[in-house]
Amino acid sequence: MNIYSEVILDHYRYPRNFGSIKDPSKRSVLFNPSCGDKIELDVIFKKDKVEEIKFRGQGCAISQASASILTDHVLGKAKDELKKIDKEFMIKLLGIELGPNRIKCALLPLEALHKLIS
Ligand code: FES
Repeated sequence: MNIYSEVILDHYRYPRNFGSIKDPSKRSVLFNPSCGDKIELDVIFKKDKVEEIKFRGQGCAISQASASILTDHVLGKAKDELKKIDKEFMIKLLGIELGPNRIKCALLPLEALHKLIS
């Protein structure tokens, strides 16, 4: 039996917003120090809202699915709303129970997002 939900697997297999943006308003790169995996985020802000967002990188199913789910969630949202997305919300968005190591994977895209708007 699989430990991940169908939603996670679907986002891992068919990542939304995967790729890069040629001239992004902002770009951030973040490494997971425990495994060396990385996630890169590109975003275009228009009138302080996310008009386009893309991610890429290498990582486990959780980090990739989390990036896909997060980028989908923030499309069209204002910068102020992005700041409010916290760890608890992200875990709720993923909808699964995670151990401490997997939590780092799951939160990598969120950290990259916060770095992007800081
Ligand atoms: Fe590297 Fe999950 S094991 S990001």
